[in-house]
Amino acid sequence: MAKAAVILAGGLGTRLRPLTYTTPKPLLPVVNRPMILRLMDTFPEDVTTVVIAVSYMAERIQEFFAKNDCGREVIVVNEEAPLGTGGAIKNVGEYLTDSFFVFNADNFSSINLQEMERFHAKHGGIGTIALWEVENPEPYGVVKLGENTRILAFKEKPKLSEAPSKKINAGMYIFNKKILDFIPEGEVSLERTVFPSIIGQGLYGFEFHGYWIDCGKPKEFLDTNRFLLSRGLGKIESPIEGYLLEPVAVGKGMTGRGYTLGPNTCIGNNCTIGEGSIIANSVIFDNVVVGKNVQIDRSIIGNGVKISSGNVITDRVVGDGEQI
Ligand code: GTP
Repeated sequence: MAKAAVILAGGLGTRLRPLTYTTPKPLLPVVNRPMILRLMDTFPEDVTTVVIAVSYMAERIQEFFAKNDCGREVIVVNEEAPLGTGGAIKNVGEYLTDSFFVFNADNFSSINLQEMERFHAKHGGIGTIALWEVENPEPYGVVKLGENTRILAFKEKPKLSEAPSKKINAGMYIFNKKILDFIPEGEVSLERTVFPSIIGQGLYGFEFHGYWIDCGKPKEFLDTNRFLLSRGLGKIESPIEGYLLEPVAVGKGMTGRGYTLGPNTCIGNNCTIGEGSIIANSVIFDNVVVGKNVQIDRSIIGNGVKISSGNVITDRVVGDGEQI
């Protein structure tokens, strides 16, 4: 049955600054494709409408979807002021189907969404939260699971000693439209306000295995790129006049020679890489110029950055347009 999916894409992305000063997080490239499209690639076919709830840099996301056809109906809804993860869902109520998906824009996983749909239909509660198990649940939303996978408690970012389990909210949900009755007007947090208030209405946890990455911090952003590269998503779209240590992705229009790229490296479009330069474990956005004998490791280099010869760049996030 046709379903809507809501993507929560209005956050400030503070942990990926300075990159998110100039590009909203959902449009940052993951293996040379905007993060939000990588997420949409995983949607089941019955998701015919994608509602994107935006706020921060809304016009950039609106422009992007006006120019790019994604093969599904895309509706971008702006919040004048950020409404929080719960308020954002209430705000798009008119576009929702009887049951609908909700995704954080920056969580990637091996979840089987069709299986999750079957799970939700079988349990028939107000909502299903995808659950992932971690060693340290402290920075996440943590659930207490009862019999029959029913969620008995939801604690957002608890102290380790107070965490009810190691099963965390993986940022993917299926809700029944009834949830709108439990979201007050204005700015509302799904995790802090809505979940605790709907536990009695039948909230279930769908556990999955494989992989899950929250791509919202620099190290995790690099991990996501590395992981998706290892799954063969990287393309080489320019002639290569240097050495590649796979896995590597190279966008269109790359120039230069005598460089070494990889492993675990993505180079965007129209970059120039100088002779003797070595780029490993890094993500380079578009229009970047790297001089000769530069070494880059474990770094994210924003659009249009210029790096002069001989620099060594390790564990850095370099914002758009910087000159080094
Ligand atoms: P940080 O500032 O680095 O914490 O990142 P973030 O702003 O993306 O916050 P977080 O990762 O906690 O948000 C989870 C998801 O909810 C992300 O996909 C955000 O874009 C989204 N989100 C957070 N707040 C809002 C909001 O007020 N409105 C909408 N539409 N989406 C939001």
